[in-house]
Amino acid sequence: MSWLYNSLNSSIGKKIIMAVTGVCLVLFLIIHLIGNLTLYGGFNAFNGYVRTLELVKPVIRVVEVVLGLIFIFHIFNGVRLWIENKNARPENYTVKGIRKNTTLFSRTMIQTGSIVFIFLVLHLSTFWVAFNFSGEPEHKPYQYYSIIMDWFKNPFYAGFYVIAVILLGFHLNHGFQSAFQTFGWNHKKYFPFIQKLGTVYALIMAIGFASIPIYFYFNGGN
Ligand code: HEM
Repeated sequence: MSWLYNSLNSSIGKKIIMAVTGVCLVLFLIIHLIGNLTLYGGFNAFNGYVRTLELVKPVIRVVEVVLGLIFIFHIFNGVRLWIENKNARPENYTVKGIRKNTTLFSRTMIQTGSIVFIFLVLHLSTFWVAFNFSGEPEHKPYQYYSIIMDWFKNPFYAGFYVIAVILLGFHLNHGFQSAFQTFGWNHKKYFPFIQKLGTVYALIMAIGFASIPIYFYFNGGN
């Protein structure tokens, strides 16, 4: 088993872990956004969606554990790669403090990733905890939609969501193309298309997720 440990621990091994976990998270975000968009259908549509998920609770629990591990691997490896790159980079590699062949998105992956991580901790400690532990059965029919509505009335909470998902968009814009590069799918002819696809994906995620707190803040969900 030590060969597996050694290969995953190598520089390229860590990059492959980042790419594979990143692709899983890209897919998760698409599913999560589609589910969240039922909020625009009103409380019946959203509560119906959540109750349908509750019918397959054991499956959801397994998915959550796998997702948790994917996040942990992604974050742990991301930080390790960042530290390694920082230590390996010679001083004269920078031109007036800005490295060549990099974009703002690629240079700020650790910063945008850190804000998304803080967002995730806040997000799970509010929504996920409320959805899983605030069990007053008599309020159940309207409970889920109301939880979201109540939190997004708070301008700081809603505002932080908007900022965090815009930075998530920055993170995804580089992460998407970077994963393809790691897999070796960076052919001169097709790579510009992959880059554009990544940007479109990042924009859809940022706008889609940001629209929800904005909508609830201004409409109160009615
Ligand atoms: C307006 C934006 C969002 C809303 C309204 C929203 C809503 C929710 C809700 C209600 C849950 C609890 C689901 C349950 O336990 O049944 C949840 C869970 C979760 N959310 Fe979000 N979410 C948003 C954005 C995001 C973003 C941008 C990410 C990732 C960066 C994210 C990651 C997660 C994760 C990892 C879980 C736990 C897994 C799960 O239970 O599905 N969410 N979200």
